[in-house]
Amino acid sequence: MSTAVPPDPEDTVDLDKRTPATGSTSSAFGAPPAVEAVGVSKAFGSRKRQVVALSEVDLRVAAGEFVALIGPSGCGKSTLMRLVADLEKPTSGTLEVFGKPASQARVDQDYGIAFQQAGLLPWRSVAGNISLPLELHGASRNERKQRVAELIELVGLTDFAKSRPDQLSGGMQQRVAIARSLAERPRLLLMDEPFGALDEMTRERMQAELARISVETGAAVVFVTHSIPEAVFLADRVVVMTARPGRITEEIVTGIGREVVRDQQLREDPAFFTKVTEVREALHGAPVASSAEER
Ligand SMILES: Nc1ncnc2c1ncn2[C@@H]1O[C@H](COP(=O)(O)OP(=O)(O)OP(=O)(O)O)[C@@H](O)[C@H]1O
Ligand SMILES: [Mg+2]
Repeated sequence: MSTAVPPDPEDTVDLDKRTPATGSTSSAFGAPPAVEAVGVSKAFGSRKRQVVALSEVDLRVAAGEFVALIGPSGCGKSTLMRLVADLEKPTSGTLEVFGKPASQARVDQDYGIAFQQAGLLPWRSVAGNISLPLELHGASRNERKQRVAELIELVGLTDFAKSRPDQLSGGMQQRVAIARSLAERPRLLLMDEPFGALDEMTRERMQAELARISVETGAAVVFVTHSIPEAVFLADRVVVMTARPGRITEEIVTGIGREVVRDQQLREDPAFFTKVTEVREALHGAPVASSAEER
């Protein structure tokens, strides 16, 4: 497998060399974790017809760490993301983002969100959509222009700055959504199945781009997916969940360093397959019939 700097003469993943990215401690610089959920539960509905979406979830994501969340449909992945993003409140437990309450992190724009639907404004151009969060938060015209140009280049859409979303493919629209989520340089990206609707080739290209972007920006990422290879390819750590009630059952450290270039070679590396098998076994070992829904 190839690496960015320095090149790896062994051309293999050394799974033993890497410190496990358990996120169980603060980063090397003592920064607070990007996400810290302690005993988080979430129930919906009335007491009579209650759905317990999440039960006693503990999750710590270190600053700069890439964590994939995987689990059967309905196990509470989106709920957990919505709690971190302060779009829902937990029924019990505490949730902190960079050491502050999720509500404060929302006000401080500490995170960017990219969910399954790109959610672009159809009447705005690519540049106009990416610029939106900057406009909403009062960035000057010059700042916006410069930042939007950088972001468009980052996601490889320079020739499409003036195009409207309906003139773009699904993958290109997703890239616009990702650029928009990065606009304010968040230290945390919350991504809920952002590549779910893409064809396999576009999806693989987008995965490689996201891996590159996460290294370039140093942002922590929490990434929900139904795809085991996608989770292993991208993440430092894969968190496996089970349903009814939604709980975290296992965590698998991929051992693939941030410095490793995520490319075709990685997908063909035996160490990659080993981790894919490990995650698959963790998922299927989870005592839920609906694990067959995993794609
Ligand atoms: N607003 C809501 N009101 C009532 N129940 C909800 C609400 N949001 C989620 N739920 C329930 O909580 C559970 C978890 O849902 P959630 O969307 O988090 O699952 P998920 O893991 O994201 O599933 P999928 O993989 O299908 O996206 C489900 O049983 C769902 O019906
Ligand atoms: Mg979901």
